[in-house]
Amino acid sequence: MYQPWTVKYKPKTLKEVVGNKEAIQKFVEWVKSWDRGIPPKRAAFLYGPPGVGKTVTVEALANDLKMELVEKNASDYRTEEAVKRFAGLASQYGSLFGTKRIILFDELDGLTGTADKGGVKAITDITKTAQCPIVLIANNAFDPRFAFLRNYCLLIEFKKPSTTDVLKHLKGICLKEGIEAEENALKFIAQRSEGDIRSAVTDLQALAQGKKRLTYDDVSWLGFRDRQETIFTVLRMILYGKTCEGAKRAVDMADVDTDMLFEWIYENVPAHLTDPHDLARAMDALSMADVYRGRIRKTQDWSFVRYVVDFMSAGVAMARVNTKTSGWTPFRFPERIQALSRSKEERAMQLEIGRKIKRRCHISATRAAKEVLPYLRIIFKNNVKMAAGIAKWLDLTPEMIEYVAESKEKAAAINKLLS
Ligand SMILES: Nc1ncnc2c1ncn2[C@@H]1O[C@H](COP(=O)(O)OP(=O)(O)OP(=O)(O)O)[C@@H](O)[C@H]1O
Ligand SMILES: [Mg+2]
Repeated sequence: MYQPWTVKYKPKTLKEVVGNKEAIQKFVEWVKSWDRGIPPKRAAFLYGPPGVGKTVTVEALANDLKMELVEKNASDYRTEEAVKRFAGLASQYGSLFGTKRIILFDELDGLTGTADKGGVKAITDITKTAQCPIVLIANNAFDPRFAFLRNYCLLIEFKKPSTTDVLKHLKGICLKEGIEAEENALKFIAQRSEGDIRSAVTDLQALAQGKKRLTYDDVSWLGFRDRQETIFTVLRMILYGKTCEGAKRAVDMADVDTDMLFEWIYENVPAHLTDPHDLARAMDALSMADVYRGRIRKTQDWSFVRYVVDFMSAGVAMARVNTKTSGWTPFRFPERIQALSRSKEERAMQLEIGRKIKRRCHISATRAAKEVLPYLRIIFKNNVKMAAGIAKWLDLTPEMIEYVAESKEKAAAINKLLS
């Protein structure tokens, strides 16, 4: 069974948490100070970048000190009522069996906008009167929404751990997995993660799981991390995957959702599976995935999602029979998504032109923009004289002409004929 290494190697005790020694020390002392009575600040506010161990620190500490951890994510306490239900009583009374309790409000950044004002207010109320340690976590503690709440909190900053610390953690994992890794390879992964241990561990798993050895060459093609790098790793695992398992695993590692991943695969299959039989097989698999996507959309029955995943990952990976891996083909951003995310102005312009067409052709402006505009585009690009005639007939503005012609020179020529 696939298990993410971030879960498998999640620190169970504070000793295993790497980096941020000072912050952790400060936090431990504050929690222990509760033994001597209620401290001036009843809440600790841990903040800092993602993947550095904020949540894990609280969990490991509760484990070390044998405390009961009452834990929720922001999505569970958007409203005042939800917060009170979750933490109101718990914060006031001891636990059933006399163990000490710690209450954690994680991922406070998730609370957004005015609708959640009640949530922050309720957390503040609880913090003022709590009889047990309250822990708050957010990436940014200095958001104005927390201004008032901050007064009641001991602020503890978590910083990005050093490359050396990340490296140490990766080495530990390799040791346990029985992977012999080149120092350089691990260093590369560590550097690339820029202090985000979660992403370092995910990368390591993507690159090294099931291997006996990990070399610098295995990892160096990755380049430096950004959002898209992760998708590139995933695409590579699918389009060049040798096993069904590996390809399916890649889907779990993607930091985009299944639909978006589908678009990525669909866009990139033709350039990476150049043999026509391979390509046909891959497209068959994708069309099957799409059939199940449609079924999910219609029935909202999400159990079909595993078929979608199987077809678009394993199905595509197994399509490669004849295509040789030669050279380096870059991955492309999905065109369909690009088209969707086209700027608002462009859509407004299309609609304006659509309205002009509507007046003459008696079809809806949207339909005109969708169905007529592409033909106009072909004409405007190839026949200046005809374009000028149409432009006059439709009463297009110079901006519209330029938009349809997609070229300043063509537009100038058309406008010249018009005047
Ligand atoms: N300091 C660390 N030492 C060891 N493992 C870590 C550390 N930080 C993160 N990890 C690994 O990354 C995973 C995620 O860490 P954690 O949830 O604590 O991050 P976080 O700081 O709370 O991030 P976020 O702001 O995204 O919630 C852990 O389960 C663990 O596997
Ligand atoms: Mg967290």
